[in-house]
Amino acid sequence: MDKVFYFGSNFKMHQTPDETRQFIDSLRQMLPEDQSIQLFLIPPFTSLTTASTTLGDSGIWLGAQNMHWADTGAHTGEISPTMLTSIGVELIMLGHAERRGQFGETDEALRMKVNAAVRNDLRILLCVGENAEQRSSQIAAETVAIQLKVALADLEASYLPKLMVAYEPVWSIGEGGTPADPTIVAAMHGAIRTTLVEHLGEQARSVPVLYGGSVNPTNCAEYAALAQVDGLFVGRAAWSPAGFAEVLQLGIKANASL
Ligand code: PGA
Repeated sequence: MDKVFYFGSNFKMHQTPDETRQFIDSLRQMLPEDQSIQLFLIPPFTSLTTASTTLGDSGIWLGAQNMHWADTGAHTGEISPTMLTSIGVELIMLGHAERRGQFGETDEALRMKVNAAVRNDLRILLCVGENAEQRSSQIAAETVAIQLKVALADLEASYLPKLMVAYEPVWSIGEGGTPADPTIVAAMHGAIRTTLVEHLGEQARSVPVLYGGSVNPTNCAEYAALAQVDGLFVGRAAWSPAGFAEVLQLGIKANASL
């Protein structure tokens, strides 16, 4: 069987339930019939129920953008893993740079959230990446290694089939982000793979490592064509169904030439 190409989008704080339904309905008309891709969508909490119903049996994984590590409790304003699984969420994104940077999310908190995901049988998309200062101080690989080692400290190798990692350098994400040079992406993905294997064993060679950060129709093929890249994680460029489908098609084409 062909190697699976992973592709998804985090909607961040965009899209009402109605907009999410329209997005999914139109996207499903545009998707290729390709057995070797795995898609996922990560809308905001308020759109999850609608997304779950609209996605139906499409095979597209539904993800949430954050969760608390406890299943219930006095944690006002928080959403628990059991609440997410009860409405059909099967993937949790953890450690996005905006959660770390704007809300002070620590590697230690992420360790507890990873453990909560395991307890609740959620797939995990763990986001890691260095900021501009860490890159210019030449500690990018070390920064990402620490993020991985702390967040995954308690993970058992048997859970690896449910883990994905996204490399998202902070300096390349969102408005004002600079697209990363593919040589940086290849090197960082290699470093991530090395850390995963050292920490979790040979089975970690099959953990998908996705690239994210200002991915768009112009640059996506360069990233998808890298042997170290198992998929793409896209923000702004995939927030319309046509944009999502375009970057996906170009990515699949580039990846297929590997
Ligand atoms: P972007 O977002 O593609 O808009 O840069 C990526 C991300 O934050 O995951």
